Amino acid sequence: MANGKRDQAKVTADAAARFAEVFRAAPDGVWQAPGRVNLIGEHTDYNEGFVLPFAIGHTARVAVRLREDSTARLISSYGDEGLVTVDLTRLAPSNMQGWTAYPLGVAWVLGQQGVRVPGFDLFLDSSVPTGAGLSSSAAIECAVALALNDLAGAALSREELVLVGQRAENEVVGAPTGILDQSASLLSTEGHAVFLDCRSRQAEQVPFDLAGSQLVVLVVDTRVSHAHATGDYAARRASCELGAEVLGVPALRDLRVDELAEAAGLLDDETFRRVRHIVTENDRVLCTVAALAEQGPTAVGELLTASHLSMRDDFEISCPELDLAVETALANGALGARMTGGGFGGSAIALIPAATEAGTRQAILTAFRHAGFREPDIFAVTPAAGAGRIG
Ligand code: GLA
Repeated sequence: MANGKRDQAKVTADAAARFAEVFRAAPDGVWQAPGRVNLIGEHTDYNEGFVLPFAIGHTARVAVRLREDSTARLISSYGDEGLVTVDLTRLAPSNMQGWTAYPLGVAWVLGQQGVRVPGFDLFLDSSVPTGAGLSSSAAIECAVALALNDLAGAALSREELVLVGQRAENEVVGAPTGILDQSASLLSTEGHAVFLDCRSRQAEQVPFDLAGSQLVVLVVDTRVSHAHATGDYAARRASCELGAEVLGVPALRDLRVDELAEAAGLLDDETFRRVRHIVTENDRVLCTVAALAEQGPTAVGELLTASHLSMRDDFEISCPELDLAVETALANGALGARMTGGGFGGSAIALIPAATEAGTRQAILTAFRHAGFREPDIFAVTPAAGAGRIG
C-alpha cells in the first residue's frame, strides 16, 4: 500500500476505535474534511469577489452512529468536557458552547432547512491546529455536514453544504464570515487550488503543481491566536459594506482598479484603504490564476507579497509576528510570502524553492527568537483532496 493510503487507513481505524471505546459500538461511518491555506484572495469572499484556496493534509474527522432517539452525544480528542449530551429538539444558537457549537450548529442548521436529523453519537478528532488561520472550525463543520447529510439521506450537494457550514459559523458561532473556508474544505481536489467566484459560486480547479516546479509552500503558524467572533473581523466587513454603499455599488466586487482614484475623493481615508485592498486583491487573484495557467507556480511570488503588503498597510489585519515571518522568508529565498486567512494572528505562507527549505525554516526560527516571539510552528503543505467519507 502506498504511504498515503496506509496513513489514511490508520486515521480511519483510529477514529473508529476511539468511537467504539466510548460508545461501545462501531460507528456507521467515518468522514474527514481538511483545513485550508488561502493562496490569495483575502476578505474578498464577503465582498462577492474571488478567492484561490487549497485544502491541506491536516483534517478533522468524525466517526458517527445514528441513534433511535433525538439525543446527541459528542466527545472530542481535545477539550476537557468529556462526553457532552444534548437533546436535539431543544437546540438553539444560544445554548451551544465550546467545540460542540460546530457539530451541533451544523445539526441545527440542517434542521432549520427541513432535514430531519436523528439523534447521533459522534467522536471528533482533528489535526488542524486551532486559531492558526487554517480553518479548523470549517473542517469540523464540513466533516459533520457530510456525515449527517449521508446518514440522514438528505442528498444536499456540496455547494449546499458549504452554505450549511457558513450559516452555522454565522448564526451559531457568531462569526460573520464568508464562504471561503467551507468551499475550500468541500470543493478542493488534490494537486489543485480552487478558483472560486463568490458571487456566482462557480468553482474552477486550477492545477497547482508545486513538486513539478521544485517549490514548497511553507506554513508559519505564529501561534498568535485569533477568533473571528471578536470585533475586528466584523469591523473590516462593516468598512467594506460602508464603502460599497457610499460608492453606490452592490458589492466591492463591482469596482475596478481604475475606478479607485475617483473613489478616493468620496471616502474617508480609512474606508478608502479598506476598499483599495479589496479591489486590488480581487485583481491579484485574477492575475494569479492567469499566471498559474501560463507559467505555473514560479510566476506568482510577487502577487503573494503584494497581497501581504496590502493587508498590512491598507486592510491592517497583519501583526508583527506575521510581518516578521513574511520579511524573513523573503530575505531568505522565498519567491513570495503573505499572511493567510482572516488575520490578526494565525499563519503566514511562503512560496520557496525546495532546495532552500531548511535554510528558510532556520532563518525564521532565529528571527522569532531574536524578536522575543513565541517559537512558530513551521511545516510544508501540498494541495490535498477535499472532504469525503473515509470509512
Ligand atoms: C476567515 C473567514 C473567511 C474569509 C477569510 C479572509 O477565514 O472565515 O470567510 O473571509 O477569513 O479571507
